[in-house]
Amino acid sequence: MSCRSNLSSWQALEQSAANLQQQKIKNLFAQDEQRFDKFSCQIPGLLFDYSKQLIDENTFNQLLSLAEQVDLGSWRTKMFSGEKINFTENRAVLHTALRNRSASPVYVDGDDVMPAVQSELEKIKAFSEKVRSGQWAGFTGKAVKDVVAIGVGGSNLGPQMATDALKSYADDKLSVHYVSNVDGVQLADVLEKVDAETCLFVISSKTFTTSETMTNANSAVTWFLESAQSDAAIAKHFVAVSTNLEKTRAFGIADENVFTMWDWVGGRFSLWSAIGLPIALYLGFEAFSEILDGAFEIDEHFKNAPAHKNIPLIMGLLSVWNTSFLGHKAQAVLPYDQALHMLPAYLQQGEMESNGKSVAFDGKMVPYTTVPLIWGMTGINGQHAFYQYLHQGNTIVPADFIASVRPQKQIGQHHDILLSNFFAQTEAMMAGVDEQQVREDLSSKGVAQEKIEQLVAHKIHQGNRPTTSMILDVVDAKAVGRLIALYEHKIFCQGIILEICSFDQWGVELGKGLASAIEAELTQNDVNQEHDSSTSGLIAYYKQHR
Ligand code: F6P
Repeated sequence: MSCRSNLSSWQALEQSAANLQQQKIKNLFAQDEQRFDKFSCQIPGLLFDYSKQLIDENTFNQLLSLAEQVDLGSWRTKMFSGEKINFTENRAVLHTALRNRSASPVYVDGDDVMPAVQSELEKIKAFSEKVRSGQWAGFTGKAVKDVVAIGVGGSNLGPQMATDALKSYADDKLSVHYVSNVDGVQLADVLEKVDAETCLFVISSKTFTTSETMTNANSAVTWFLESAQSDAAIAKHFVAVSTNLEKTRAFGIADENVFTMWDWVGGRFSLWSAIGLPIALYLGFEAFSEILDGAFEIDEHFKNAPAHKNIPLIMGLLSVWNTSFLGHKAQAVLPYDQALHMLPAYLQQGEMESNGKSVAFDGKMVPYTTVPLIWGMTGINGQHAFYQYLHQGNTIVPADFIASVRPQKQIGQHHDILLSNFFAQTEAMMAGVDEQQVREDLSSKGVAQEKIEQLVAHKIHQGNRPTTSMILDVVDAKAVGRLIALYEHKIFCQGIILEICSFDQWGVELGKGLASAIEAELTQNDVNQEHDSSTSGLIAYYKQHR
């Protein structure tokens, strides 16, 4: 049995879960007028309200004790100070060094990494300014108009989410296009829109071996050379972000056009490194820098705020509470801000690739559910798609609701209408509608008794759906940095509390290996492998019909 479930706080929480499952959140509000004040915190630029979660003070204190008993504070120190807490890959976990705005050194294997971090930031600044000002000329002397960012997973989602979130602030200097899918349609669509003379390709891959990215990068070079007709022109139109200089050289990218990252930056935590280059190119280095500033603020908060006011810690604890104790196996992320529409997809990788695992540090199976399935979309669109399930499905899905005080663009009353939905939904999910309310409502509308009897069960909403609400000031660069860093540290806390190694991703490797073996069967006639009859049948069908 994993030692986490042997802890006294864990066992106390199991008891609390059994008790609280009989309780209604709305009754907890009725019993305590101070509930909102007790279960909410504010930091600059953010209100965090978790009072609509199914917790009481006793449970909250037990959760804080759990964090203490797993020694979360020491693990946090280890992460920030460069200890190799990613022990399965023998790596430090130092995305926080990338946004370290203090003068403090950060050591890995005895070397301070900060000078290298700083110099890479300078390189990003100089390059992005050169490109944006038109000084960086293509092979015919023209300035860059389009950036095509090729990468997948952590080498794509962060910059794409951030540039999309902040596009309201973009000038018209450049357009940015993302290609992540090896489905050639995505690359073809982008290439139809851009011109080889004015196009800059950023090939982002930590390993520079990821099959999808390398296939897209190779096809981009082929397309480019059809116009440029000279290998020498590649230097003006292809840059890379990678740790693997050998591979970038073999690909034909000059060393000076390679932006470095380090093995202590995990892919899904790499937005802050040169992986964020498309952000600096599209929005300017200052915006990129503000994203780092926002994240640094959260790093300081995470390190220094007391546990009961420490937002990422509370986020991590609530996730563990909802999933491992209350048994909720999914979690919705529902932005009520169009700018954040890619956030659910970004967090899917962040949380599920980090903590979607089943064994503890010692390799033994954990006896509890680890992290939930993360899903979501902008709240309003979700309301007209899957909220029926959230309100009346027989599975409870806790949800994070995220909105902003001010919209990036104001049109008439739109923002008040949007926010009224934001407030109404969490209230409805918590309070529900009981039988008496349904009967009263139908009678007041003059509905016949027979019809009321038919409808009543269908119109009851059980409520008691736990939600957390976050209100940002406005989605600007700092807010994006803050929000992402909050979730990153939440993921770290979940991992430590659940005893999950959050920083590897062996589960992704399995499919990669199998796909490359099957690729040989599809591309070479004489290669055949043994499969189960379904896989063989599917492959045979494809080969016959392609
Ligand atoms: O999805 C698996 C993964 O290894 C991610 O962790 C990573 O972000 C992504 O693939 C891309 O890897 P790379 O940057 O090496 O191309």
